[in-house]
Amino acid sequence: MKARHLVSLRDVSSEDILEILDVARHLKLEHRAGVRHAQLAGKTLAMVFQKPSLRTRVSFEAGMWQLGGHAIYLGPSDIKLGERETTEDIALNLSRFCDGIMARVFKHETVVELAKHATVPVINGLCDMDHPCQALADLLTVWEKKRRFDGLTLAFIGDGNNVAHSLIDGCAKVGMSFRIACPSGYEPNADVVAAARALGASVEITHDPHEAARGADALYTDVWVSMGQESDAKSKQNAFRGFTIDSKLVEVANKGAVILHCLPAHYGEEITYEASRSPGSAIFDQAENRMHAQKAVLALLMS
Ligand code: CP
Ligand code: NVA
Repeated sequence: MKARHLVSLRDVSSEDILEILDVARHLKLEHRAGVRHAQLAGKTLAMVFQKPSLRTRVSFEAGMWQLGGHAIYLGPSDIKLGERETTEDIALNLSRFCDGIMARVFKHETVVELAKHATVPVINGLCDMDHPCQALADLLTVWEKKRRFDGLTLAFIGDGNNVAHSLIDGCAKVGMSFRIACPSGYEPNADVVAAARALGASVEITHDPHEAARGADALYTDVWVSMGQESDAKSKQNAFRGFTIDSKLVEVANKGAVILHCLPAHYGEEITYEASRSPGSAIFDQAENRMHAQKAVLALLMS
C-alpha cells in the first residue's frame, strides 16, 4: 500500500483499495479458521473519539488485539481535542507513544491536521466529510455478495453525507456506478462528485428514490440526522420523509439487490425494520466487515 494515512478514499489509489480488500478477505478467512497473527505485536493504536461509537470502537480494538497489538480508547472527555491542547500537539504527543492514530472527529480539517503533524499513520474513523473505513467494509460486503464490482450500480437513498462521500470515492475507484436520491439541498459535496467523475465514474443525483433504486444492485441508506446535526433534526426529518428503504423500494431494485446500512439505524425513518431483516439485507455482514477491512488497513499501514 502506497498511502501513508487513510484520511479519505480520494487520497488512496484504486490499487491500494483493491490491495486492502484482498488482504481483508485473507484475514477474514484466517480469522474464521482460528489462525493467530502477531503482525502488530508490541504496537499500539491510539483511538481518539470526539463522538460516540459502537462499531468503530469495538472493531478497531478487537482488530488490533487479533493482530497481536493493543489499542487505547480516548473518549470525548479524555483529551478534549482542540480544547485542552492543540491538534498539532496531540498528534506530536501520540506519535511518541503509539504506532498509529485512529480518530473520529467533527471537522475534516482536524483529521487532516492530525495526519499533517503525526509521524505515525492516521486513520479517519469518521468526520463530517468522510467515513473511509465504512466504505471499505461496504465494498468488501458487495464483493462477497456479487463477486465483482464491474457493471454494478449502488443506489444511496438519503443524505449526501460523510458515508455517501466515501461511497462515491470508493465506487469510483473500483468501477461501480453510484446513484443518490436525496431531497433538494442535501446533495453530496460537489468537489467529491467532481473528483469521482474526473476518474470517469458515473455519479447520478436524483430527488426520486424510485428513480435511483430502479435496476440497482445494491440499495444503501444511512440516518437522516448525523452526529453533530442534532439541532437540524426537525427540519431534516421533514425534508427526508419518504427517503426510506422499504419493501416497495426493494422491489424496484434488481432481483437479489444487496441492502446495506452502515448502522446505527433509525427503523421507520431511513429503513424499515422489515427491509433491514429481508433476505437481501447484509447489514450485519457490513458491520462484521468493518473489522476485517480495518485489520487490513492496520496491517498494511502499521507493520
Ligand atoms: N457505522 C459506524 O461507524 O458505527 P459507529 O458509529 O457505531 O462506530
Ligand atoms: N452519517 C452518520 C454515520 C454514522 C456511522 C453520522 O455521521 O452520524
